[in-house]
Amino acid sequence: MQQQLASIVATARQESAAVTTRAEMEAFKARVMGPNGSLTQVMKGMGSLSKEERPVVGRLINEAKREVEDLLAALLAKVEDAEIGSALGAPADPSLPPPDAPAGSAHPLSRTRERILASFRKLGFTVAEGPEVETEWHCFDALNTPADHPARDMQDTLYLPASFRSADAPRKGTEAVLLRTHTSSVQVRTMLSRKPPFRIVAPGRCFRRDAVDATHSANFHQVEGLWIDRQVTLADLRGVLDFFVKETFGPEAETRLRPSFFPFTEPSFEMDLRSPNLGRLSGRWLEIMGCGLVDPKVLELCGLAPQEWSGLAFGLGLERIAMLVHGIDDIRHFYANDARFLRQFA
Ligand code: PHE
Repeated sequence: MQQQLASIVATARQESAAVTTRAEMEAFKARVMGPNGSLTQVMKGMGSLSKEERPVVGRLINEAKREVEDLLAALLAKVEDAEIGSALGAPADPSLPPPDAPAGSAHPLSRTRERILASFRKLGFTVAEGPEVETEWHCFDALNTPADHPARDMQDTLYLPASFRSADAPRKGTEAVLLRTHTSSVQVRTMLSRKPPFRIVAPGRCFRRDAVDATHSANFHQVEGLWIDRQVTLADLRGVLDFFVKETFGPEAETRLRPSFFPFTEPSFEMDLRSPNLGRLSGRWLEIMGCGLVDPKVLELCGLAPQEWSGLAFGLGLERIAMLVHGIDDIRHFYANDARFLRQFA
């Protein structure tokens, strides 16, 4: 009986290879599994077996049955493919996406970035980019940030091992390589490579050695801006930033400049925002970005004569703006890839 089963399976395998149409498949199935099929015959013979033989043969029959079922499943797939192919006039291409596949959507941070860039484009700013792995010179020295400034500390900044040095640094001792802490380094690179006047915005990813919590992430995004021209004034700074804030938060939003300090701007400010439509934050002054007029020392370090050129600069955190606009309470939502969160912005 065991031999009989083996030969049934072998025959079935041979015959199935020749099947190409649905009718042939049905006929094949009947020959093996139909009321008079070869396998059915063997199953019928079980009645004449002894009590001891029955479970042994039963197991063999089940194995043979499973093999034939596998053959049939493969045949069905083959026949269906052929049928679809002939209906379409071409072979089916299983690598094509299904017509009803769910479409993805832009990430809320990407949307916020595009919105912000669109505002600044209206004012004649173009987008500039630079490397995420930066030299100490472009990130700090050129921005008048002294060696003992806390931002330069190993505790606050992610340095690459000392074996990585860059020949890109114009001054000796500043070739250390790090993950940029702000995109102000793009402003430095732009001043070095382009002739003023120009207006640029530099969007991009930044890194700080921050412990992660609801409002801090070691990896975040900025949009910084720089306008270099003759006689750029604080009135220009106010005008540019006020325009941006009203475009982003609505015409009711108010702004104020609060004196602050950055090594690369003089004078320096924090810009605060107050708006009646920010949910539970409505009516409160909220800090949204640092800004100021470019320090003459920075112009000089970047090869521009301070007697001729002046500039304004600002820098904001993309996550912070997106959180305020959408009422998001935890920065970690942006990176968790939870579809329930992301779908809300689709
Ligand atoms: N670079 C500053 C930061 O990362 C922001 C800033 C940019 C402040 C330009 C003033 C002018 O915090």
